[in-house]
Amino acid sequence: MSIKVSPSILAADFGNIERECNLIDKSGADWFHLDVMDGIFVPNISFGMPVVKAIRKMTSKPLDVHLMITEPERYIEKFIELGSDIISFHLEATNKLEENISLIKSNNVKVGIAINPDTPIDSLIDIINKIDLVCLMGVFPGFAGQKFIKNTFDRLKELKKLIIDNDSKALIEVDGGVKADNYMELRSLGADVLVAGSYIFNSEDYDLVIKKLKE
Ligand code: DX5
Ligand code: ZN
Repeated sequence: MSIKVSPSILAADFGNIERECNLIDKSGADWFHLDVMDGIFVPNISFGMPVVKAIRKMTSKPLDVHLMITEPERYIEKFIELGSDIISFHLEATNKLEENISLIKSNNVKVGIAINPDTPIDSLIDIINKIDLVCLMGVFPGFAGQKFIKNTFDRLKELKKLIIDNDSKALIEVDGGVKADNYMELRSLGADVLVAGSYIFNSEDYDLVIKKLKE
């Protein structure tokens, strides 16, 4: 399977969001990565339903929604209604892990579990066969443009092994700090999806960077 690229719109210019989304829509990007934050689970507030709704109208590419919110069960149905194709929520943010997975799956939406850089990989063991994707954070969530945490490489190896050992079909998405100096290694260690925000949106030519990430 070829590598997928999911540009993080958080790093886009919100004053020109339609133009930014059109550029991504026309590019070789596979998905749109939408980072929803609540100011509680993470120390930042990004955007919520109205923005997801607006972006849904701008593209037919899959919306890869990353919920960085406490008790995501409060809003999962809303994000399903808005047309999300993949919903990832944080393992650390809920004690309704299994219920949330079932809720998302029963609506024919793909389910992802996101884990922070300090959450053990083996905490995924009981659910690795029930989910479609693991969103492995390369930074502590909250902001675009942070430095990649190197230990993510070892965590990626461990996660790949967990997936293979359990015959799981879950994809590995690496999110945070993905850039020129690490994407090749992330690919060779088995990442299936690369999220990139500042690397794409701080460049002159988004499509060129996306092509590089995929080639
Ligand atoms: C971090 C977000 C990431 C982030 C990626 O809280 O989940 O998706 O926007 O941005 P870069 O690629 O700039 O680290
Ligand atoms: Zn994200």
